[in-house]
Amino acid sequence: MTDTAILMPAPMPAAVIDALDRRFALHRLWEQPDAGAFLADHGAAIRGLAANTLAGRVDAALFDRLPALEIVANFGVGYDNIDARAAADRGIMVTNTPGVLDAEVADLTIGLLLATIRRLPQADRYVREGRWPHAPFPLSPTLRGRTIGILGLGAIGKQIARRLEGFDVRLAYHGRSRQADVAYDYHDTPVALATACDVLIAIVPGGGGTRHLIDADVLRALGANGVLVNVARGSVVDEPALIEALQSGTILAAGLDVYADEPSVPDALLALPNVVLLPHLGSASEHTRAAMGQLVVDNLTSWFGGHGPLTPVPETA
Ligand code: GLV
Repeated sequence: MTDTAILMPAPMPAAVIDALDRRFALHRLWEQPDAGAFLADHGAAIRGLAANTLAGRVDAALFDRLPALEIVANFGVGYDNIDARAAADRGIMVTNTPGVLDAEVADLTIGLLLATIRRLPQADRYVREGRWPHAPFPLSPTLRGRTIGILGLGAIGKQIARRLEGFDVRLAYHGRSRQADVAYDYHDTPVALATACDVLIAIVPGGGGTRHLIDADVLRALGANGVLVNVARGSVVDEPALIEALQSGTILAAGLDVYADEPSVPDALLALPNVVLLPHLGSASEHTRAAMGQLVVDNLTSWFGGHGPLTPVPETA
């Protein structure tokens, strides 16, 4: 163990805490009775930060309190919880956990898509409520004949598309630019993609650049047979506009893993029969969370061993 001080603002899996405890002087901020007082007393010694979405905003205001901070290792591929530009301005490295969760999130997306279209949670409730002996479950919509638009064809988007190739559906995408090595149809705006599709899967990064990319216009373009699946960030969708579109039949259904203000889910969504709601499960298997945790530990270990970051985010690479 070294005396290098690492701050963990919010709990992470026990294996990560144990591994960091063995290597560094780990400070568990959530166990402190007064976090502000702890930062005032010890902030100047902190050289590494192990962050996750529970940690709150990791931004200039926090960096001001941690003048010796060298690296923020984020538990998660999305790092919209971190102001990476403010970090870059101060020469602070930011790392995330790409790659190790792509397949898991893609699997979950396929499950959520099928659950939403074939109404699997509703059917499960139907059996449990003892309704089957009285009448068959109503026929569902279908995936057959659909065109699926992927909003954000990055590493995870590509794994989703690869899985969907086995489902005999047409595929299209929108992203910042057309990708030369991709055969799916490219559309240069979200509205154009939604117009061409009857399923829209959101898997873009969160943050200011993608806020409300899916708004009332996109939902109107998706149309009355349209299904939205959001496995990106809640901020990507204008949630009130989505609720209105689901209530009015502007779109058919939605499968949501993420929300504007997690972990609270609006009552209006809970009341809707045509939504499937998951509690942000994209990467949430034991296998994949362990791999993500290991990458957090490995990034910090590599950095403080003088070998640089393993998976730096582009802003600080
Ligand atoms: C999960 O949402 C992640 O960004 O890893």
